[in-house]
Formats: sequence, structure tokens, C-alpha cells
Amino acid sequence: MSNVAPVSDGSQDLRVIRVVVNGETHTGMAESRTLLSDFLRHELGLTGTHVGCEQGVCGSCTVLVDGELCRSCLTFAAQVEGSRIETVEGIADGDELHPIQRAFQDNHGLQCGFCTPGMLITTRALIESNPDPSEAEIREHLSGNVCRCTGYAGIVAAVQQAAREIASADGGGA
Ligand code: FES
Ligand code: FES
Repeated sequence: MSNVAPVSDGSQDLRVIRVVVNGETHTGMAESRTLLSDFLRHELGLTGTHVGCEQGVCGSCTVLVDGELCRSCLTFAAQVEGSRIETVEGIADGDELHPIQRAFQDNHGLQCGFCTPGMLITTRALIESNPDPSEAEIREHLSGNVCRCTGYAGIVAAVQQAAREIASADGGGA
């Protein structure tokens, strides 16, 4: 993360932000106060990242920045200049669902789907750091992601299935 100089005359405070999102380089304009969630959705058109509470509570806006979980509603776009970002759009391999996505589908880990982008990204981070999480570890790791629909049982089952499938497919890499 780094600060970048404004490119305008100062009246609009616009600056160029260059990031790598899901492996592709993107360049867009942002004011110094533009949130990463708004930059992704409105400047780059990546609307898979959802915005719920806008105050860091619900987890629906979660993305990975340089491999770390990040609340994009609490992060300025200017803070991530030059960073590598992963969003829900980068999880599937073309039309092929990622094992995490298949597991959420198989276990009714979503209903309305509003929380799902944040759940998928957070699950991916969990399995990458802990390929065989216990139920308690799953619930702890997902405790910052709110779901109003499922009651969480299906989500926990989905994470367990995804971890098993990823481990058997490639030895544990998510
Ligand atoms: S929208 Fe960012 S945590 Fe709720
Ligand atoms: S599926 Fe509706 S909020 Fe989680």
C-alpha cells in the first residue's frame, strides 16, 4: 500500500489508482476519500463485492488485499494503490465453480446470497491458512460475517465439505 500524488489541479482531488484485481491490472480514478468498495463496484464495475452495513460489521464487502482479509468499506482506494486484490469474481475458473462455491450450493449455504461474496472470500482465506479447520475454528473465522438467512449450519457444512474436497484434490491448496 502506498500514497499516490493527485493528478488534478486539486479542485477535485482525483488520483489514478492502479491495482491488480483477480490477476488483471486495472486503472481507475478515485478521490482520496473514495472507499475501496465503491472503487471496485463503481469505477471498475466489479459489483460482486456487496456493501451492507458500510461500517465494518457485516463482512459482506470482504476482499483479499495482498492475501489479507480486508473490509473494503473501511479502506480507502488510495490505500491499496499497487496492491493485489482478490474479489468474488476471481474465485470461479470461467464457468467452472470453485469447490468452495459448489460446497455452498450443495449445503444450502446461501439463500438470498447477499452475504455470500464475503463468506466465500473469508472461507478461501481460512482454508488457505488452515486446510483442515474444526467446526469451532470455522465458526470463529466466520464470526465477522453476518448472514440473515441461513442460520449458519449450512455455511459451516459447506466450509467443511470445501476443505475436504480441496485437500483431496491438491493436498490442501485453496
Ligand atoms: S459493508 Fe463492509 S462490513 Fe458491512
Ligand atoms: S444468504 Fe441471505 S444474508 Fe446470507
